[in-house]
This record gives sequence, structure tokens and C-alpha cells, in this order.
Amino acid sequence: METLTLVGCQFGDEGKGKIIDHLSKDFDMTVRFNGGENAGHTVVVGDKTIKYHLVPAGFLRARTVVIAKGVVINLRRLIEELEFLKTFRSNFDLKISDLAHVVTELHFKRDSYLEQLRGEGKIGTTLKGIGPAYESKFGRYGIRLTDFRNPDGLKRQLALMSKIYQIPYEEGYVDNLMSDYERLEPYVCDTRAYLEEELNGGKKALFETANGTFIDIDSGTYPFVTSSYTTSGGVTVGTGLSPKYFTKFLGVAKAYTTRVGEGMFPTELSGPEADRLRKLGNEFGTTTGRPRRVGYLDIPMLRKAVKLNSLDYLALTKVDVLGKMDGIKVAVSYESNGSEIREFDPATTPDKVNYETFASWSNDRSKLNEYIEFIQDELRVPIVLIGVGEKRDAIETNGQIAF
Ligand code: GDP
Ligand code: IMO
Ligand code: MG
Repeated sequence: METLTLVGCQFGDEGKGKIIDHLSKDFDMTVRFNGGENAGHTVVVGDKTIKYHLVPAGFLRARTVVIAKGVVINLRRLIEELEFLKTFRSNFDLKISDLAHVVTELHFKRDSYLEQLRGEGKIGTTLKGIGPAYESKFGRYGIRLTDFRNPDGLKRQLALMSKIYQIPYEEGYVDNLMSDYERLEPYVCDTRAYLEEELNGGKKALFETANGTFIDIDSGTYPFVTSSYTTSGGVTVGTGLSPKYFTKFLGVAKAYTTRVGEGMFPTELSGPEADRLRKLGNEFGTTTGRPRRVGYLDIPMLRKAVKLNSLDYLALTKVDVLGKMDGIKVAVSYESNGSEIREFDPATTPDKVNYETFASWSNDRSKLNEYIEFIQDELRVPIVLIGVGEKRDAIETNGQIAF
């Protein structure tokens, strides 16, 4: 089976978009299967910056892109994104799962309401209705694309959602939803059956996970997480394909760590050092523009990510950014209650973080090699790709990927 599943190893924004764009030239299909427009995947092509939110980031290079059933879709947003992307590629082939759930206006309002209700304890969501869309899915009052084939059922489901949330919707909202659906209908199909047939016929697929390992609904720093499965196991439920199709996993890690939103962050920096790293890395959220919290690389976190995702390969991004810092640090272990901890536990904030220091590599490439070898040795996973700049082609191959 020729598939590769790509996951983010930290809190999201690891630079997955650029790696997906690079890898997708070797795949027939690329597939999104979790999250929604909370994802923001950047690819810099020439002097243009593309920010993918719902469309798979393999759009420019893969023959076919698929939005599988685990994604929650804001229909209007998807239409707008496609309109923009068509200017880069008009001959695209898109398939959207008929079982994917729709993010409605009610979900947006509910997201804001819940954040307000949490007050100081807010999650810092993207306010794109993602949590509520999964909430309604699992609560069995969500709306799927297939429901648009039965307008009466759709109206009943929306009315039920409105009652549960105690949020009204405007007259004419169903008509707006329906007309958005009609524009997307030509792409809607049973994507599981499609993928199964293609894969059984020897075609290759790259499965691109949105978000990051430690904002996974179960394995992340709950409750400061997103509402989907962002670890590699999510690919089976998110696509509907059986686990036998997935054998190789690649993790993308930034050479340092960033986080948007609230929640634990053991290596977080503050003050001028944080400002410098944020500025050097242009660390502002792709979806919301919020400044990202920044810190050094966290090996205990990556040790856990390797296990949770069964990683075979790693891609390390933004080494050009980190190389400009003076006195680069890497967290190698934590201390809690007087004991050394080698692996990140999302439920326990460590008392202390132990670091090793590395020299800057801005004028000495051999120092970067030392950094990379250190990470590989600690994690026992080969770093096969290295991101050395923002541009699409600023990427170095450091090893082969066999899948
Ligand atoms: P994603 O959500 O994981 O796809 O990552 P984002 O697109 O949200 O954020 C990554 C940011 O880093 C984007 O602005 C990318 O253009 C940029 N980027 C990705 N790889 C590199 C790299 O190797 N070097 C530099 N300087 N920027 C990079
Ligand atoms: P990509 O795919 C970074 C974070 C939000 C917030 C929490 C919950 O670009 O890596 P949500 O709106 O999902 O309910 O927000 O999760 N978050 C992300 N952070 N990158 C992402 O996606 C994210 N998707 C969600 O900032 O803290
Ligand atoms: Mg992002």
C-alpha cells in the first residue's frame, strides 16, 4: 500500500504546508481528514503566499485532492478558497466526502459564547466553530453534506441545533446554505470508496493531518486542545479507510516550539529573547494573526510524539530562523517532584526544564549538522527533510523516504 501519513509533532504550525507541497509531487492524491478552517497551511510560491485552510495543501501538485469525512467544512469559506486557488491551478480535481459535517453560523456563535463563558480559563480557539461542529456531530444533531439531498431533514436538524444552543438563525439561512452546497455538489462523493479503489489500483496517497499532536482531543494538553484527532490514528476514522492502508508516518517539527492559544508550554520564552525569536520566525498565526508563543525545541515532547504517531521519519523546519539566535537551547528532560522525566506528559506541568546549549550556525554549517544529529540520536528517527527558508524550494533532502 503506497501511503504516507504526515502529522504535526508539536502544537500546530510546524510548517506542514510547505512539506506537504514539496512531497505532493510524488503522490497521485493528497487527503485532508481532520479539523476545519482552524488549520492554516502556508506555501510561498514565487512572490505569492498561499494559505490553505480547508483545501489540501497538495492542491498545486497532486493529481487529485480529497477532503475526507473527518473534516468539518464551512461551505462559504471553501468556495472562497477554491475561487482563490483556481487562479493558481484551474485544472484541479477535488473530491469532498458526503459524510463530512458542515460548520454553520450557529457553530460560530456557539464557539464565541463558550469562550466567553470560560472567561479566564478560555481555550483561545480560532473562533471558527470547530469545537461546536464536532460537538454537534457527536451529539447527533450535526448536518452532513449528504443531508442537503433531503432539505426537510436538513431544516429539522438545523432547527434542533438552534433549540439546543438557544441561538436563532435568520430567515433565509437555509436557502443560503443550500445555494453554497449546490456550488460544491459536483465535487461531493463517497471519498472512502474512491480512495479504496485508487489505492487498491496502486495509486499513491499522502494523508495530511491538520493541527498538531499536542492539541489532539485525547492525547493533547486537554482541555487546551482542538476537537479532532490530530495524531496518526485519526487517519483511519477521518477517512473511513481501514487501518491496513496506513504503514508509514512522517512527523513535521519546527526547530523550536510555538503555540497559539492557551495551555501548557514547558520551554516557553518570555521577554526580549521571545520577542527576537518571534520576530525572526514571523510567528503570527496564519488563521487568526495572533502572536504565537515561542520557546526552544522540546525533546521530551518529541519523544512522546514519536511514540503517539509511530513516526518513521521527521522533517525539521525553520532551521534558518533558529540558527540566527545566539546560544540555542534544547530541552532534554524535565524534573518533577525531584525526579527526572524524559517524556512529555500532557497532564503534568514540570517543575523544571533541563537544557543543553548549541552554538549558532548562521556562519558555520557544521553546527547545524551537530544539531540535527543530536535530535536524530535522541529520537532514533531519521530527519529526512530540512526547511531552510520560507520559499517553496528552500528545503534540503537529508535522507530517503520509503513508503
Ligand atoms: P502549518 O500550519 O504547519 O502548515 O504551518 P504554518 O503555515 O501555519 O506556519 C509555518 C510558517 O513558517 C509559514 O509562514 C511558512 O511560510 C513558514 N515556513 C515553513 N517552513 C519554513 C522554513 O523552513 N523556514 C522559514 N523561514 N519559514 C518556514
Ligand atoms: P495548523 O493546521 C496552531 C489551536 C487554537 C486553540 C486550540 C483550539 O495550522 O497547524 P480550535 O479553533 O481548533 O477549537 O482551537 O487549538 N489550533 C491551532 N494552533 N495551528 C493549528 O492548525 C491549529 N488549529 C487549532 O489556537 O489554541
Ligand atoms: Mg498553521
